[in-house]
Amino acid sequence: MDVLKNKTKKIYKAKVSRVEKISSNSHLIEINLPSAEEIQPGQFISIYCSGLTLRRPFSVYSQNGNTIGIMFKERGLGTKYIKSLKSGDDIDVIGPFGNGFDIKNKKSLLIGAGIGAAPIAFLKSKLDKMKQENLFICGFLNKNEIPNCVNVDKVYTDDGSAGEKGSVLNYLGAVINEYKPEIIYVCGPLIVLRETAKLAEIFDLEIQVAMEKVMACGIGVCRGCVIDIKKDGKIINASVCKDGPVFSGKEVVWQ
Ligand SMILES: Cc1cc2nc3c(=O)[nH]c(=O)nc-3n(C[C@H](O)[C@H](O)[C@H](O)COP(=O)(O)OP(=O)(O)OC[C@H]3O[C@@H](n4cnc5c(N)ncnc54)[C@H](O)[C@@H]3O)c2cc1C
Ligand code: FES
Repeated sequence: MDVLKNKTKKIYKAKVSRVEKISSNSHLIEINLPSAEEIQPGQFISIYCSGLTLRRPFSVYSQNGNTIGIMFKERGLGTKYIKSLKSGDDIDVIGPFGNGFDIKNKKSLLIGAGIGAAPIAFLKSKLDKMKQENLFICGFLNKNEIPNCVNVDKVYTDDGSAGEKGSVLNYLGAVINEYKPEIIYVCGPLIVLRETAKLAEIFDLEIQVAMEKVMACGIGVCRGCVIDIKKDGKIINASVCKDGPVFSGKEVVWQ
């Protein structure tokens, strides 16, 4: 395997070990990567998709020895290309990038929505290994969209075809009241992050959110992924790719 390194990134000509359909609209790809063991939950890698100029970023869903797993939803040409790969194919990967979750020794509520379940499932596996108390809840549109490889404690579906009916947000206040977490970690669509951050404020809870923004360079240069955050009483720009993707939910200026 070729490994090219420069100051800011590690480029791997890696090998695909498995690609598998895991729900009606998502796949799991496993990749052998020498840097796998250093990857922290919440960090991401960027994949070169043949013929496309920009690499595509994906959170890491699992890590076992030198193998990482990425759970992805097919959206456009990039994810169509990744879906087409087979075991033994070469894959061009850069990473890991970004700051992952800052794992605290606290009773944790883990929230995933849709494909946002991926980095949260990775975090859960770490917390379980550390024997740290946690509750993992997830929301999906319907039961067909639930990835068959993810073990959640409680599931919610918009159409009620699995678990409780409705958005995970409808139940969040009750879950917090009952479970009494000390910290929340969440990944999913912006509305889920924003509304969870509001609730965390009401309940005076620590919260870490994994943000997603369409990315170009992926290394903090192009400023294409900036969001506003509050620091020392001022509002400043932060790049999701370099300063995040995980931020304190209290510092993000929610749009
Ligand atoms: C830090 C980070 C982690 C991510 N982790 C995952 C993951 O674990 N699994 C996963 O399936 N996806 C993840 N994404 C989103 C993933 O990068 C995009 O789905 C992918 O780049 C789409 O590429 P494409 O060529 O298939 O689609 P494109 O042709 O590039 O886009 C197709 C459609 O998807 C939308 N889209 C593209 N990028 C994003 C994005 N970043 N967020 C929301 N919508 C987007 C476009 O606006 C367009 O409507 C992550 C993104 C970021 C920034
Ligand atoms: S994608 Fe270029 S700065 Fe984040």
